[in-house]
Amino acid sequence: MIMVTGATGTVGRLVVARMPTSTAVRALVRRPDRLITLRPDVEVVQGDYADDDSLLRALQGVRRALLITGAVGGGEDERFLRAARRAGTEHVVKLSAAAVLDRSADDAVTRWQRDTEQLLRSSDLAWTLLRPRSFMSNTLAWAPGIRSEGVVRGLYGTSANACVDPRDIADVAVRALTESGHDGRAYTLTGPGPVTAVEQTRELGRAIGRRLEFVELTPDQTRAALLRRHSEPVVEALLASARRQKCGAKAGTDPMLAKLLGRAATPFTTWAVDHAPLFANGSEGTTKPRARP
Ligand SMILES: NC(=O)c1ccc[n+]([C@@H]2O[C@H](COP(=O)([O-])OP(=O)(O)OC[C@H]3O[C@@H](n4cnc5c(N)ncnc54)[C@H](OP(=O)(O)O)[C@@H]3O)[C@@H](O)[C@H]2O)c1
Repeated sequence: MIMVTGATGTVGRLVVARMPTSTAVRALVRRPDRLITLRPDVEVVQGDYADDDSLLRALQGVRRALLITGAVGGGEDERFLRAARRAGTEHVVKLSAAAVLDRSADDAVTRWQRDTEQLLRSSDLAWTLLRPRSFMSNTLAWAPGIRSEGVVRGLYGTSANACVDPRDIADVAVRALTESGHDGRAYTLTGPGPVTAVEQTRELGRAIGRRLEFVELTPDQTRAALLRRHSEPVVEALLASARRQKCGAKAGTDPMLAKLLGRAATPFTTWAVDHAPLFANGSEGTTKPRARP
């Protein structure tokens, strides 16, 4: 049995959809009514990182698990790993972040990812770390502005990020969960090349057949906007991350994804075309926005 956590989120949802039908899959969700899956064969189990008993119950019989957490400093990884050990789980694949390798990254979010990686590495469980660069889907946060006024507002519009398609991350996760040979490996996952927010705006405009404008925000304007959705330490971490991007820290690509999947990483142009309906007028915008300074 393979467990997928974060099954209502960006990557977990895609992993559930992509798991081979020959594999028994269990999706851990806080609220089962939130899981939209077309896979009747997937077992849905209620569980919350804040509830140790629910984790232990949910993990019974699970051999491998994909761990996706998001509460910075919230102790979620610790509780999940403790329950996994008690339940006899053998291997945990953890969604981490590419920034952990960047020596200049010392923000609260990156420190938290490093600490949680270390928790898993120092446990007696087999482990695999997935370290993606920014998700292409972060641009979904722009969808309301694009739909309503044809405008994208963001910070450092000409700074590049080798962002990655979450579908590619999910494909790697499926391999790490279902194949042998991934134990003790850490994979940096990037897209095929660096893209700036100005270029992403242009690509999204092409995809929906509408001329879009990019309006650059100042760091203070960005801080004010982010504070409406995140705690102060997380906002400062996002701003520090954006400054690193401005200095070129996120432009580099890594061949690992293509090597693992035996095909090229998906370019942003393709992601934009495939998700165009979400940015077009008339879309109800059912996807939840993500933070992206
Ligand atoms: N976005 C990026 O650019 C980026 C880049 C690199 C790394 N990452 C890393 O990717 C991870 C997030 O992945 P994602 O974007 O796929 O996730 P996501 O879309 O933010 O979804 C989070 C998932 O976790 C679940 N969850 C939250 N709290 C929970 C709890 N207490 N108990 C059980 N489940 C809970 C949510 O369920 P509900 O539906 O119930 O809320 C949801 O399914 C983070 O670790 C982040 O640092 C992100």
